[in-house]
Amino acid sequence: MLVHEWEPFNAESPRHALAGRLTTGVESFYSRNHGPIPHIDPDAWRLRVDGLVDRPLTLSLGELRERFAAREIMATLQCAGNRRQGLIEVRDIPGEDPWGPGATSTALWTGVPLADVLAAAGLRAGAEHVAFSAPDVSLLADPPQPYGGSIPLTKAISGEVLLAWGMNGRPLPQAHGAPLRVVVPGWIGARSVKWLREITVQAEPSANYFQATAYRLVPPEAQAGPGVGVSLGPVALNCDILRPDGTAPVPPGPTEVTGYAYAGDDRSVVRVDVSLDGGRTWEQAELDAPVSPWSWQHWRLTVDLPPGETVLTARAWDSTAATQPESPASVWNPKGYVNNSWARLHVTATP
Ligand code: MTE
Repeated sequence: MLVHEWEPFNAESPRHALAGRLTTGVESFYSRNHGPIPHIDPDAWRLRVDGLVDRPLTLSLGELRERFAAREIMATLQCAGNRRQGLIEVRDIPGEDPWGPGATSTALWTGVPLADVLAAAGLRAGAEHVAFSAPDVSLLADPPQPYGGSIPLTKAISGEVLLAWGMNGRPLPQAHGAPLRVVVPGWIGARSVKWLREITVQAEPSANYFQATAYRLVPPEAQAGPGVGVSLGPVALNCDILRPDGTAPVPPGPTEVTGYAYAGDDRSVVRVDVSLDGGRTWEQAELDAPVSPWSWQHWRLTVDLPPGETVLTARAWDSTAATQPESPASVWNPKGYVNNSWARLHVTATP
């Protein structure tokens, strides 16, 4: 792992750990935390479901597993800060970690659909948002507060949003939210709240700092503050290069370039192009079909690498025919979210 901070623990997957793998091993799955990782006794833990519901629920993990049918979903999590490094190179973003392309990973999640739990609680009139609360207190929040967030009810009852206790066929590790976390496929990782302890159905989005102030796209010259900018939801179309990884010289000549591409929510990636001349000319990569509607797609292309330094460039296109913006400068924002500009990797070819 490439560790950005030890406390709170923030580490990204190195490119080679993501390359060519549908799912990411738990040991190299990125870890994004805003406070200390809590230690929760799974036997004493209870999930509370309240707010605009007919029947508030208090459920143990055993009751959750017994009362509701389990579902498995392969889904990519992607932090809104993925690839922030490219924005920092344009203009500094103080106080935020310089994430490379590894603040994203994919796992097979096991849990119960949030929709089924909400149906058991019964939704009351006025229900529009579903808020999640966790016990980890973040000193980065203003004022310091436990982590939380919310998603609109339409997404919450869509069936793909899981309350997950399993990851890659094993119990959910503590660092990734045990005993229970939310997995919101297709949405920024921030909404997949770990160490979940309360679900509140409400009329408004969560007032938690990480919903109301952070994880919002703020215009370049504005300052982040409550309600400023747009709350981030579905993941923007993005891609990056995983192999070669730019850490060591490679031989010139035929070289396989591989990477991931991902388009959140109801979009899929339909094409990936690679350029060796900064985007003047492009060649189309071979793109894997989506294995799950909620997971990334890998791509590959063999290029003829000249001796010396080359900048490999990649861009993806999605099922709405949208493509990625060319420059990180055009998407720079004060908190450094959603850098989905063209992927660029410097490689040196030496015989
Ligand atoms: N949930 C809690 N309770 N605390 C957190 O700090 N970080 C969020 C989300 N859920 C966070 C959280 C963010 S920003 C991301 S990107 C994902 O968790 C990362 O999940 P992971 O650490 O399992 O990769």
